[in-house]
Amino acid sequence: MNPPAIAIDGPAASGKSTVAKLIAKELGFTFINTGAMYRAVTWYVLQQGINPADAEAVKAVLADIPLSFGKDGAVSTVMCEGRVLGEELTLQSTNDNVSTIAAIPEVRALLVEKQREYNLTEPVVMEGRDIGTVVFPNTPYKYFVTASEEVRAARRAAQGLTDSIAERDRKDSARACAPLTKADDAQLVDTSDMTIEQVVASIAADIRSRMA
Ligand code: DC
Repeated sequence: MNPPAIAIDGPAASGKSTVAKLIAKELGFTFINTGAMYRAVTWYVLQQGINPADAEAVKAVLADIPLSFGKDGAVSTVMCEGRVLGEELTLQSTNDNVSTIAAIPEVRALLVEKQREYNLTEPVVMEGRDIGTVVFPNTPYKYFVTASEEVRAARRAAQGLTDSIAERDRKDSARACAPLTKADDAQLVDTSDMTIEQVVASIAADIRSRMA
């Protein structure tokens, strides 16, 4: 049996990343940001001059893609030829194309396999769109973190980011393969009127009480 896996899903700018990171710290688990993995593939594809909408061309580079997925302390990292990627992951061009790349089933299959590998040896808090539905469908710890569209747009703007989250959510929810959706057995957490501290405290208390 694998160590525990906490699945945190939700739309863009719902606060799930911040919340997941803090919960991981509190529980002493490794934090895995799966959006960064889809962003890294997107950045690499664009670097190669490949059109992200050309799924066949994207698939052709997957086998030899020079990306690797590791950790810095208890936080996941993505590397390209050994160099940790940072600002590449939030470039406007990456933001604009990541939903197109994330809709390609072969990209998802590759990354889901890498995501599950993290949990073979250690407990994880993993955040994304399909963690409760696809990556860890059997985990009893699933949370779908959301907030109103206005609150999410304001949070994104406060981070200095300008991507169109409504458009990205629409694409992420509409794709055929592993769309953004709440798992039937996930707990819905609406953070619109909650502070980060309140969200973290409520989810961590729920996990602790059920693990005890
Ligand atoms: O969490 P994020 O905003 O960094 O994710 C970027 C994109 O990656 C998101 O728009 C959809 C995709 N994604 C996905 O399809 N599945 C995941 N588990 C995580 C992210």
